[in-house]
Amino acid sequence: MTDDAKTAWSGRFERTPGKFLQDFGASLPVDKRMWAEDIRGSIAHARMLAKQGVISTEDADAIETGLSEIYREIRDGEFEFNVADEDVHMAIERVLTERVGAAGARLHTGRSRNDQVALDTRLYSKHRAAELANAIVALRRVLLRVAEANADVVMPGYTHLQKAQPVLFSHHVLAYAWMLTRDFTRMRHAWEAADVMPLGSAALAGTTFPLDRAYVAERLGFSEVSPNSMDSVSDRDFLLDVVYACAVCQVHLSRLAEELILWSTEEFGFVTMDDEYSTGSSIMPQKKNPDFAELVRGKTGRVVGDLTSLLVTLKGLPLAYNKDMQEDKEQAFDAIDTVADSLRAMAGMIDTMRVNAEAMRAGSLGGFMAATDLADYLVGRGMPFRQAHEVVGKLVLELERSDRTLQDLTAAEFAAHSSDFGPDALDAVDIEEVVARRTTEGGTAHESVAAQLRLAKDALTADEAWLETVTAS
Ligand code: ARG
Repeated sequence: MTDDAKTAWSGRFERTPGKFLQDFGASLPVDKRMWAEDIRGSIAHARMLAKQGVISTEDADAIETGLSEIYREIRDGEFEFNVADEDVHMAIERVLTERVGAAGARLHTGRSRNDQVALDTRLYSKHRAAELANAIVALRRVLLRVAEANADVVMPGYTHLQKAQPVLFSHHVLAYAWMLTRDFTRMRHAWEAADVMPLGSAALAGTTFPLDRAYVAERLGFSEVSPNSMDSVSDRDFLLDVVYACAVCQVHLSRLAEELILWSTEEFGFVTMDDEYSTGSSIMPQKKNPDFAELVRGKTGRVVGDLTSLLVTLKGLPLAYNKDMQEDKEQAFDAIDTVADSLRAMAGMIDTMRVNAEAMRAGSLGGFMAATDLADYLVGRGMPFRQAHEVVGKLVLELERSDRTLQDLTAAEFAAHSSDFGPDALDAVDIEEVVARRTTEGGTAHESVAAQLRLAKDALTADEAWLETVTAS
């Protein structure tokens, strides 16, 4: 039995949970990050209460002045949260009431922490989704710059991590720009999902006070008001959306990181990481390790875990609010923080790395990567594709045995292998030509990649324009 702190519900209780359970039940250490959202939401609520005649204008003024002061203090690091407070909502309301008295005690009229936390989390989610969308755009800018600066570099393209067909390095880099373009769209969707105003739902059923919910939505920059108070206080889909967008984005970054790690090995040597993005070894003096790319790859596990964890937290919850939902924020914050840092690290890493065009070109000569083109060449001379595949397959087997490659063959050797090979078989296996022939929309020929780059730039411009509208609001 403890009879220490007076709680917001002390009227009904004779005893309170002890210190251990208070700590167990508290979310302040996690949710204090939403202090700015909490204060914004409370000011909007107080102004609306005054407009509707529920509280006096003097009380609303006192609340706004008190909250603005708390806002400044927290922002400037002059505010000490009291660890005895259960969560950010109670912490701020308690200090406000201590400072402005009865007016502060009127703030919670027609409101519950259930709709208050939904509001704060939505505001926070919108803010961070826009920030992540911005970081995605920044990485896309870097990728487009690197693609454009290395427009002519030919490299091996792989399937099964076996050399397949030569491609332009810019084509490979743009593939990641498109993944990130879709990540942007997912993040924008998450922003839009959070853009619904829940306040006025109160505990679960709405309230007896004549609230103007549309006014609060308008003040806080929401496009609409939630239509069902019960759904409104138990819905965390918008958080799932942002964490899902994070998880997919982090998986993309992990794939990119994996390529950079591989490419910076001595065996590949396709890129060289800047010293600033590398670390050494405490024992092996020669080492230069791509630690930060590895960390981006490694942190993917936790972001995927955050998504799983949030889904499982919500599974099986009956309507409406349940305390389980307090567990939602830690994972969401972690996913958002991790992706934000990873995007930033990747942008810097790619912006500063050296592209070793010669190593990529040399790598393109091996692996018989012109074999498909040689078979296509035979098809052009009337041979059925399956037969052409066989002829070229045999040629590859022979060359492999004698440790030679397709580009080593002379016209006479081609003719000796099959009478269907004319002197122009040499062009068929020229690596630059192999690339240049793939003029399909989305293919790897220079003009196709140039067209693709224009599309990627247009997509970037459109997304930047959307970002302008949300950061301005
Ligand atoms: N700290 C709580 C949370 O994060 C706020 C809502 C608490 N509501 C309640 N009825 N206990 O979910």
